[in-house]
Amino acid sequence: MLLATCLLALSATTSAINLFVSDYSGNVTTLSLAASGSNYTLTKIHANDGCSPNPSWLEIDAANGLLYCSNEGLETSNGSLSTFSIDRDGSISLIQNTTTISGPVSSTIYGDPFGPKTIALAHYTGSALSTYLLSPTKPGNVSLNQEIVFTLDKPGTIPDRQDAPHAHEAFTDPTGQFLLVPDLGADLVRIFCYDSGTLKLTAVAPLKVPAGSGPRHGVFYNPSGFAGGATYFYLMSELAATVTSYAVTYLPDNAGLEFKEMVSVSTSWLYNVPSQGAPAEIALSPDNRFLVMSTRNNTAFTLPLNGGTPSDSLSTWALNDDGSFAFHQLWPAGGEFPRQFSMNAVGNLVAVGLQTDQVVVILGRDVQSGLIGEPVARIAIGGNVTSVVWDERPALGRLGS
Ligand SMILES: *[C@@H]1O[C@H](CO)[C@@H](O)[C@H](O)[C@H]1NC(C)=O
Ligand SMILES: *[C@@H]1O[C@H](CO)[C@@H](O)[C@H](O)[C@H]1NC(C)=O
Ligand SMILES: *[C@@H]1O[C@H](CO)[C@@H](O)[C@H](O)[C@H]1NC(C)=O
Ligand SMILES: *[C@@H]1O[C@H](CO)[C@@H](O)[C@H](O)[C@H]1NC(C)=O
Ligand SMILES: *[C@@H]1O[C@H](CO)[C@@H](O)[C@H](O)[C@H]1NC(C)=O
Ligand SMILES: *[C@@H]1O[C@H](CO)[C@@H](O)[C@H](O)[C@H]1NC(C)=O
Ligand SMILES: *[C@@H]1O[C@H](CO)[C@@H](O)[C@H](O)[C@H]1NC(C)=O
Repeated sequence: MLLATCLLALSATTSAINLFVSDYSGNVTTLSLAASGSNYTLTKIHANDGCSPNPSWLEIDAANGLLYCSNEGLETSNGSLSTFSIDRDGSISLIQNTTTISGPVSSTIYGDPFGPKTIALAHYTGSALSTYLLSPTKPGNVSLNQEIVFTLDKPGTIPDRQDAPHAHEAFTDPTGQFLLVPDLGADLVRIFCYDSGTLKLTAVAPLKVPAGSGPRHGVFYNPSGFAGGATYFYLMSELAATVTSYAVTYLPDNAGLEFKEMVSVSTSWLYNVPSQGAPAEIALSPDNRFLVMSTRNNTAFTLPLNGGTPSDSLSTWALNDDGSFAFHQLWPAGGEFPRQFSMNAVGNLVAVGLQTDQVVVILGRDVQSGLIGEPVARIAIGGNVTSVVWDERPALGRLGS
């Protein structure tokens, strides 16, 4: 009987779903997206300043009903990591605010799926990676596990951005054995393996990328859909405005990853505009068929919103089983500086965080064709938006399936 109830809950669809939005003015805002037929309504239902002063990145811990928020601390000497419980009404309650090295901008949880776990933070201004153990007994309680500070002998080829190492993202490979950290300042993707008991990291050989390219975010692709099979990696570099594909090989004895470069594509050719485009986010579509990227600072479009406001872009690229990828669509992001975006689990909606517009826009997306469509909802947020995530924990149901 209990099992049947769980299955029902898993397959249930719902007419409203929540999203969490972080913004640099200090709030984490809960939005509710309600669907009525093909019409959507987006409203603010709660705000919480427990990650202030400068929330930069959000991560949902679905298994534990928790939300982690990194505070970048733009004008303070330290950053912080706030842990929240997600309450039934969509509000969040602060559990712990932990002072960290400065400038965390990305986080990821790694560890044993059935055992100890940590959250790793990439520190942009602090030139570091830090990890915090997640308490197995006290949900939301974290304690420092490790700090790794990076150094550079001399500035990189773009000295104003490469004055020091700048860790920009932390994420795991599909098998969960390795942690990867693109370092925009050092032109490296740093790679770590970890001890399964202590979860302490050890560096293995990094992926070296061209000088001045400034790697920012990356994503893996398994054409089979299964980790450990044929594996490809796509790296978005901010300073060179490129996306580069690699064939990935797992070295014997957990010794590391080997990358064979396939192609490097300039994303600038997409835009017939003089400004320096700054790629921001890259993601794989939930159906494992497309890459989607956002580029800031190219104002490739003018939208008929508010009398013709400029818009930066999202681009979609079709993936092939051999790891090659082909341009598919260039589309307005809905406004300026799409720093981050998230697709819902079904893949029919894209929530875009427009940093300088201080707006979240929800775009429709055709799952079959992989083409992004018109905005279905739009809402102003009280500060520069840094990230937006869908709360699609299984028990809550999903919109649009
Ligand atoms: C959607 O909105 C339009 C315009 O406001 C309205 O005419 C239509 O009835 C709505 N459809 C549904 C299913 O609510
Ligand atoms: C969290 O900690 C950071 C770093 O110590 C501090 O600057 C910030 O004000 C704290 N935030 C809250 C909401 O207590
Ligand atoms: C706060 O920042 C200082 C200076 O960067 C650093 O030495 C210290 O370790 C940080 N504190 C914590 C708790 O990370
Ligand atoms: C909670 O976190 C604090 C500080 O981060 C740590 O000292 C303490 O051991 C943790 N408690 C539990 C039960 O994990
Ligand atoms: C945006 O483009 C302008 C030149 O058009 C450049 O000066 C500026 O640095 C760019 N900003 C980013 C974040 O790339
Ligand atoms: C917010 O964005 C505006 C426009 O780019 C910028 O002038 C301002 O400094 C930003 N504020 C913060 C806190 O990032
Ligand atoms: C944060 O949210 C609260 C509650 O909605 C609101 O009063 C406050 O103005 C917000 N802060 C900013 C900077 O928008």
